[in-house]
Amino acid sequence: MINIKKLNPNLIKAQYAVRGKIVQRAYELEQEGKKIIYCNIGNPQALKQKPLTYVRQLLALCEYPKLIEDQKTKALFHKDVIEKVQRILAENPNGLGAYTQSEGMIFIRKAVSRFISERDGIESDPTKIILTDGASKGIQSVFTLLLNNPNSGFMIPIPQYPLYSATIELYGAKQINYYLDEEKHWELNKEELESSIDEAKKKGIEPVAIVVINPGNPTGSVLSKENIKMIISFAQKHNLSILADEVYQENIYSDHHKFHSFAKVMDEMKVTDVSLFSFHSTSKGFLGECGHRGGYFETKNVDSEVYSQLIKLQSIGLCSNTAGQIVTYAMVNPPQKHEDSYETYMKEKNSILGELKKKAEILGEELNKIKGMSLKFPYGAMYAFVKIDLPQEKNIRNMSKKEIAEYESKRDFNYCLELLEETGICVVPGSGFGQKPHTYHFRTTFLPPADEIKELVKKLKKFHENYLKNLSKN
Ligand SMILES: Cc1ncc(COP(=O)(O)O)c(C=O)c1O
Repeated sequence: MINIKKLNPNLIKAQYAVRGKIVQRAYELEQEGKKIIYCNIGNPQALKQKPLTYVRQLLALCEYPKLIEDQKTKALFHKDVIEKVQRILAENPNGLGAYTQSEGMIFIRKAVSRFISERDGIESDPTKIILTDGASKGIQSVFTLLLNNPNSGFMIPIPQYPLYSATIELYGAKQINYYLDEEKHWELNKEELESSIDEAKKKGIEPVAIVVINPGNPTGSVLSKENIKMIISFAQKHNLSILADEVYQENIYSDHHKFHSFAKVMDEMKVTDVSLFSFHSTSKGFLGECGHRGGYFETKNVDSEVYSQLIKLQSIGLCSNTAGQIVTYAMVNPPQKHEDSYETYMKEKNSILGELKKKAEILGEELNKIKGMSLKFPYGAMYAFVKIDLPQEKNIRNMSKKEIAEYESKRDFNYCLELLEETGICVVPGSGFGQKPHTYHFRTTFLPPADEIKELVKKLKKFHENYLKNLSKN
């Protein structure tokens, strides 16, 4: 019989904090009747966000076209949605139960390409777009593509979204950390990038790519155009591919911040020798369709030989799921002003984004008022990465680097566990995303309803004060 010692050691080493031990404990406490405020994961519809009517109407009729013939459908569904589904069925007469082209249905890839062109005012080639089961699968495909040998190194931000560290571990690649600059609102720093790549090369690692998450998870940051330009020049200098994780592009809550896509900035810079892979998803934004697993990635400056290997890779997995492809179509092809479904769509969209903005503001303002807690205002995404001051308990001077890291990650883990046990608030320790040594954080989403976010702020304040008092007593 199989046992744990016989398993793939890379899988055993891989960690995924967002669904880790603290969350498991939260489920147990919930079973015992405790009220839990789940702030651990960016899963909007699990936290009472309603699906968009437009998306679900489109999906329902695509899944069950017979409904179109029913007279009641005309009363229940928007007219333009019915017509759109008829067009989809004409484009894809096999229906959603059949495999599609490996890269996804071509009319959807064309719609994605129009969406990108309209967003950025640049050309986009539908034959360089691949539809995926969420952004995660696309990201993992590109890791598979670029992993040339076990020494291939991927530069990832710290703090990062743990899909990256876990995938690197799983695939047996090398992780090259670069720290984001918390003081400068989590932007990337050129000197830091240079020193981290130098250090990696000294260890014999061969850097192949840099990952950038913009807007940031877990940081809630939105990168400026200048910062993106610097990153592109850095990648060009070191012959790195760029993986631009842009799944939060619709989640911006500040009039002073704008989303700049890597594709557009690269176009402006006239850079044509840096390979770019840009990812988007139906899971975030205002759709929050995480369970439908929709998304795409676009490639730029990738030659046809390389691209055909990517298509082969997709074809090994056959194709992405068709419902997810339809949701992707809905994301990039929203109702137009003159159409029946427009008003409802805009009302729902604005309400979701408006609520998120309000909740980002509550956290950004209120948590900063708590003594010993601080955060950079979350201008984007769905998260706040909160810094907590914990006084040193042990003398770390005589510890090795590894011992310090273990000791420090236990500390924010214990903090989050105690927070959960006492208040029912479920957040993820900063060590799950990575953080600078001797600093402590936790990540909270701002997805629960606003009254729960207000309750969370109150409970956090009381908990933090007591926690510090107890630490000083011991
Ligand atoms: C930064 C980032 N990238 C990618 C993903 C993956 O999303 P999905 O696979 O659902 O599209 C997430 C999910 O939380 C994320 O936060």
